[in-house]
Amino acid sequence: MGDKVASTIENLQNPDQVSYLSQREAAEIDEILMGPLGFSVDQLMELAGLSVATSIAEVYKSSEYSRVLAICGPGNNGGDGLVAARHLHHFGYKPFVCYPKRTPKALYSGLVTQLESLSIPFLAVEDLPVDLSNDFDILVDAMFGFSFHGAPRPPFDDLIRRLVCLHSHDQTRQRAPVIVSVDIPSGWHVEDGDVGGEGIKPDMLVSLTAPKLCAKKFSGPHHFLGGRFVPPSIAEKYKLRLPPYPGISMCVRIGKPPQVDISALRENYISPVFLEDQLEADPIDQFRKWFDDAVAAGLHEPNAMALSTSDKDGKPSSRMVLLKGVDKEGFVWYTNYESRKGREISENPRASLLFYWDGLNRQVRVEGTVQKVPEEESEKYFHSRPRGSQIGAIVSKQSSIIPGREVLYQEYEDLEAKFSDGNLIPKPKHWGGYRLKPEVVEFWQGQKSRLHDRLQYSLKEINGRQVWKIDRLAP
Ligand SMILES: Cc1cc2nc3c(=O)[nH]c(=O)nc-3n(C[C@H](O)[C@H](O)[C@H](O)COP(=O)(O)O)c2cc1C
Repeated sequence: MGDKVASTIENLQNPDQVSYLSQREAAEIDEILMGPLGFSVDQLMELAGLSVATSIAEVYKSSEYSRVLAICGPGNNGGDGLVAARHLHHFGYKPFVCYPKRTPKALYSGLVTQLESLSIPFLAVEDLPVDLSNDFDILVDAMFGFSFHGAPRPPFDDLIRRLVCLHSHDQTRQRAPVIVSVDIPSGWHVEDGDVGGEGIKPDMLVSLTAPKLCAKKFSGPHHFLGGRFVPPSIAEKYKLRLPPYPGISMCVRIGKPPQVDISALRENYISPVFLEDQLEADPIDQFRKWFDDAVAAGLHEPNAMALSTSDKDGKPSSRMVLLKGVDKEGFVWYTNYESRKGREISENPRASLLFYWDGLNRQVRVEGTVQKVPEEESEKYFHSRPRGSQIGAIVSKQSSIIPGREVLYQEYEDLEAKFSDGNLIPKPKHWGGYRLKPEVVEFWQGQKSRLHDRLQYSLKEINGRQVWKIDRLAP
């Protein structure tokens, strides 16, 4: 069942499997949404612009691609661009807007007022550099949408030419700005695409509601779908096959992400400096402060940590586990005592933990000795878990070789039936917690040009007392 769902999702992310709309179908869907389905144009525009902004943020980080020029046409597509510019401002980008043919309607003048209130500069076409490559990192092409036909008129013909010209820089420059087209690359035929082959070649296309037929001809690295508002009645009527949006995201990628050159992945960290006078005297207090920051920053699973152990011959191994408690006694996680890590800890109780909090540019390293937590503590935690996880802990002979998934399902179902009366599920003997008592804790914060901060606590005995000594280490 699970495998079937996964393969359907995979199919729907394959560009050959998703649906593409004709111009007529796209227009009909808009009419239904704004007619019997009760949407207003303002709502759809807001959601479309938000989808464009989140698609951009998913691929192009503001730390590297901060300067965005949104080139907005007079219609709905231009409105999507104006909304995207507003969201991008709130996401930490520095947007500029070129909106040469303003539409005298309340919706559009409201969007302009909102952007002006954020001090987002409006640039006239005459004020734009002929070569857009030096002043911007991202160019949002929001000139024409699916209802456009005919030949683009001034000043949009010239603006399109400027976007086309950028491709010739690709070979010569280190990095030309990227072009993000909203729904349709401006100047393309809605169904036939870039007919003459001389049009804009966007790096990213954000299709709205569903891709239009021209999107089949899109050959750039990032095709996203946005407009998470299509109700089932429309999906059924138009037999739409679209990839499901992950989690609470407003956008979803169509097709595979491009292969990245791992050696070229390099982040220039920008954080406030981390100085000795900001440190707590005790590393557990310092850890709690940083952990609270990671929670407040909304990071996913901030309690995930890499646990490294080694066997009696010193052969190391690492895996992720979840931190389930921390206090002056140490760091606690739960697992199977008969797993590989359990066996290794019994042979060699020395271990290390590593937390990495992307987004805060921080890591924490912890080293020390490990002990099992008292049985009562493990019992208490075991019974606080959902019943499914309790059964799972019994089912899994963690780290042993099994012939296939079926054995897990079978045993799970048997145990589910056995405990269906709601009675207490006994904790298996081989399952419980470990506590690592720290001897060395290092707090690392990434800084510009690799001049990172590293502050290390190590436990020293001074006059018969255990005290934490703090040193700064070279990055
Ligand atoms: C984010 C994350 C959290 C995990 N948390 C735990 C955990 O708390 N306890 C655990 O036994 N395994 C956890 N696992 C699975 C372990 O990484 C690992 O597969 C398992 O414990 C077997 O490891 P071993 O064979 O080295 O003993 C987690 C995996 C991930 C990716």
